[in-house]
Amino acid sequence: MATDTIETNLKENRVFKPSREFARQAHVKSAAQREALSKNAARRPEKYWEKQAAELKWQKKWKKTLEWKPPLAKWFVGGQLNVSENCLDRHLTGPRRNKAAIIWEGEPGDTRTLTYHQLHRETCRFANALKNLGVRKGDRVILYMPLVPEAAIAMLACTRIGAVHSVVFGGFSSQSLRDRIQDTKAKIVITSDGGYRKGKAFGLKQQVDDAVEECASVKKVVVVKRTDQTVGWHPQRDVWWHDAVEGQSAENIPIPLDAEHPLFVLYTSGSTGKPKGILHTTGGYLTVAASTARQVFDLKEDDVYWCTADVGWITGHTYVVYGPLANGATTFLYEGAPMHPGPDRFWSLIAKYGITIFYTAPTAIRAFMRLGDSHPQKHDLSSLRLLGTVGEPINPKAWSWYHTVIGGGRCPIVDTYWQTETGGIMISPLPGATPTKPGSATLAMPGIDAAVVDKNGKEVPNGKGGFLVIRKPWPSMLRTVYGDPERYKKQYFSEFGPKLYFTGDGARRDKDGYFWLLGRVDDVINVSGHRLSTMEVESALVAHPQVAEAAVVSIPHEIKGEGIAAFVTLRRGTEPVAATTKELEKAVVKAIGAIARPDKIRFTDALPKTRSGKIMRRLLRSVASGEAVSGDTTTLEDFSALTKLQEED
Ligand code: WT7
Repeated sequence: MATDTIETNLKENRVFKPSREFARQAHVKSAAQREALSKNAARRPEKYWEKQAAELKWQKKWKKTLEWKPPLAKWFVGGQLNVSENCLDRHLTGPRRNKAAIIWEGEPGDTRTLTYHQLHRETCRFANALKNLGVRKGDRVILYMPLVPEAAIAMLACTRIGAVHSVVFGGFSSQSLRDRIQDTKAKIVITSDGGYRKGKAFGLKQQVDDAVEECASVKKVVVVKRTDQTVGWHPQRDVWWHDAVEGQSAENIPIPLDAEHPLFVLYTSGSTGKPKGILHTTGGYLTVAASTARQVFDLKEDDVYWCTADVGWITGHTYVVYGPLANGATTFLYEGAPMHPGPDRFWSLIAKYGITIFYTAPTAIRAFMRLGDSHPQKHDLSSLRLLGTVGEPINPKAWSWYHTVIGGGRCPIVDTYWQTETGGIMISPLPGATPTKPGSATLAMPGIDAAVVDKNGKEVPNGKGGFLVIRKPWPSMLRTVYGDPERYKKQYFSEFGPKLYFTGDGARRDKDGYFWLLGRVDDVINVSGHRLSTMEVESALVAHPQVAEAAVVSIPHEIKGEGIAAFVTLRRGTEPVAATTKELEKAVVKAIGAIARPDKIRFTDALPKTRSGKIMRRLLRSVASGEAVSGDTTTLEDFSALTKLQEED
């Protein structure tokens, strides 16, 4: 690790208390109530989680709440439940039966509403279709889809029959898709003939065809008809979704699954090597998804809740699908681009559907803020009662804009800190209870033992920077890295021993104990709230025949939070020509996806390295962001490489 402690100069002293009206109606109504919850949970964490788990429907009660053999945890051992039963069947007997479970709008403006009854029906039919296609309990199913209701239906159908889904974000390239299919050895891929974005129909089927060519495990490809584009067809292998469900019964009995039965694998970037398949299991994950969704978003029967994430990310799993549906809430889904056909699309959707809770990323807020106040002001946003953010620290300026212009000064903002690995929110305000400070995710959730430690794992005093760890297991923690248990240990439970989960983030607590997140301390770049590893981008660049060496660092980016700068040395005897930059950008997009396209590519004769040959990314970061190079450069092998880079700047 590069730094012992982390310094921060951020000064933000404003405090926003929840209004009396909000607090009165909230699930958790005061700071004192939250403190009591947290205190009791800290004293007896298992009791706290038992209580949250008991809100779900169990087909068989667990025998042991926690089995902790650091760093391996099992929760609710011996218990059995079914996620889709909890998200659907449970709500069919009362007034929720005919309540909207999903309200969806496509980018072109077409809409669909599925009541709990209808969503249950479609899920059962598709579960039967999957069974008919040969999917069995434990089989892996890949989803590579636009944000259409079928994506949620497919996820729920998998959970119903005990298949393990792995959603691959539709923006990832066919090579990324191939890697994930191969890693999971999936039997089925569910995709579509495309989706709509920025006014155009994009394709997905071709990427699937290319990927599956190299994936022997795949027996069937199910294709949703969304855009009516012509697609390539392999009659033995491909089947339309509508044909697969044709004639399938709307009855399907949810099978009882062990609490520790794998629920899904979701890939995310780490500091080294290829993406990691984060494995979540059934009982613990759903317990945290349901309880945090209720507490943090204060879900009520008549809310229309909109989390803008795609199902390709963890936020789309926990807070678009599972958390809200487990609570019997109405979750709104929008397929397309935020600024299409105009920069006010989001605000018009809020007005049109009467959205009450809105959860999005700082990067989106900054992009909207830049366009000015007139777009949101054209629309009636008075239905909103609560706002949320996730993905990266929110800068106070964007926070204030969100609060005043979108929230009309009346909506609390929940800044939620968590990760793919944590499964659910770890640090966050509770909107009726926690006074907020712009830029701080405030306090650890009840039952979560978060701390800031120094490099020896010792808690640092408030005011000092350090590493964010979680000191006790929690039900929705990842169980392993799929197919690579060693990497699980090494990545999360070696830095501070097998008992402390290391998040990879730096943090500081202020005098009130509030957490301020300071960004990643490893080689992970947070682009628009999504993780990319410098290594992945580097290996995409180095794969280009002309490239000898590449180093990738993050640079501050006004909208994306962090952007990508690449320093590239070409093979001896080759010179960069005008087209080289474009070619390299293409190589990265092809290997990973458009999200990883470098913002800056710089050609150089040499990269600054230590005597042992390690590239000094810290120095490159300073050069790339135009800052003075500071700190220790004594280990630098060839100082001229650095001065040269600075001169060129
Ligand atoms: C990383 C996790 C969890 C869903 C979205 C991203 C950063 C996330 C916050 C926040 C400061 C945050 C961290 C974390 N992060 N939320 N509220 N404040 N930083 O999931 O791709 O797994 O990335 O995002 O660096 O480690 P992810």
